[in-house]
Amino acid sequence: MTQTTPTLILHNASQLLTLSGGPQRGSKLGSLGLIEQGAVAIQGERILAVGQSDELLRAYPGAARYDAGKNVVMPGFVDPHTHLVWAGDRADEFTLRLQGKSYMEILAMGGGILSTVRATRTASLEELVAQSRPRAWAAFAHGTTTLEVKTGYGLTLESEIKQLQAILALNAEGPLELVPTFLGAHAVPQEFQGRTDAYVDLVCDEMLPGIHAWWQSEASGQPLPFVDVFCEQGAFDVAQSRQILERALALGFPLKIHADEFENLGGAALAAELGAASADHLVKTSPEDIHALGNSGTVAVALPGTPFGLNEADYTPARALLASGALLALATDTNPGTAWCESLQFMLALACRKMGLTPDQAIAAATINGAAAVNRQNAIGSIEPGKQADLLILDVNNYRHLGYRFGTNLVSTVIKRGRIYPVSPPAP
Ligand code: NIG
Ligand code: FE
Repeated sequence: MTQTTPTLILHNASQLLTLSGGPQRGSKLGSLGLIEQGAVAIQGERILAVGQSDELLRAYPGAARYDAGKNVVMPGFVDPHTHLVWAGDRADEFTLRLQGKSYMEILAMGGGILSTVRATRTASLEELVAQSRPRAWAAFAHGTTTLEVKTGYGLTLESEIKQLQAILALNAEGPLELVPTFLGAHAVPQEFQGRTDAYVDLVCDEMLPGIHAWWQSEASGQPLPFVDVFCEQGAFDVAQSRQILERALALGFPLKIHADEFENLGGAALAAELGAASADHLVKTSPEDIHALGNSGTVAVALPGTPFGLNEADYTPARALLASGALLALATDTNPGTAWCESLQFMLALACRKMGLTPDQAIAAATINGAAAVNRQNAIGSIEPGKQADLLILDVNNYRHLGYRFGTNLVSTVIKRGRIYPVSPPAP
């Protein structure tokens, strides 16, 4: 034990899930590192020590205590794929889809993403932040302590920067920590219809260097945002995606890709080849592309809320990905079109039913592997000394209630960087 005195000991956890040991590949997924009667010693914003309650209370007799009440304690969820910052809503399109119009048909008609682009372009920065803030709080209240957010509803340099400003503003407000991604290639904007190559050139020659320069002057010291592309029929093909991602890589940006949401184009193999942090969606992924992911460091991010939201039959083939040795993570995809749901807990419930994961696997996919998908596996995603004190206390004493139950919030308390936020009333 070290000489430092903790600011707080969180003790009396029926089950402390540490998720220790790093990201979990293939058949290793689901190692919870469970300590019964567990405790965590916190020093400021960081974890100081992990062990059994008796042991830590004896080691630090003078420290302040917080009783977990014989409930489950686990790392905060990490949501590595959202589009949380937007203006307006698309409730009207939900009805159109129920009447039989497909998501990509609505986009081709100038709706879909392009409808949110119109609303986001006209919103002021303040309006954008105000409309997105409740979603950030909803994610936090459901146990997400770090969340990635993409731009992609501006599609001009200026309005994409406005979205980055909104992400940085919400991150500065806290307590939710936001990880930014530039998704200028989310759709071909109306003014470039029929000229996709010209828009790709604009992204490569003006937007990427412009974002890079803006970041250096306005957010220097913070790691560069990720760069993502919607690689899909009706959006950007593999050659266009390659052009954008290779340019981004040359500028030093870390990479992500939306691949195989509706059709298999080969975007996942491209992500693996370029060393992207993640390839996301992966619903229609071919065996060859699954193999490429399994042999790479690229995290396969499954978004089960999206086929659920679109009422489609196919989900990410998680078992095949795990058999190939891939790193699998779960995310919400929170967005106004396909999946407006801020709760990763609901994604766990879907993953257990629709992707064949056990609760143990789903929990690891939503914590340490989610952290790996945003290159933060050394700072968050598990309960280990030196990491950020981002923890959850659940309302249950058995972790398997995650996945088993759905539609109610099982998180009672969120601890973010060592600060305690009760998010549901304590039991009587
Ligand atoms: O991940 N498919 C592309 N992007 C989002 C949807 C965005 C939207 O419809 O507004 C997705 O599903
Ligand atoms: Fe998405």
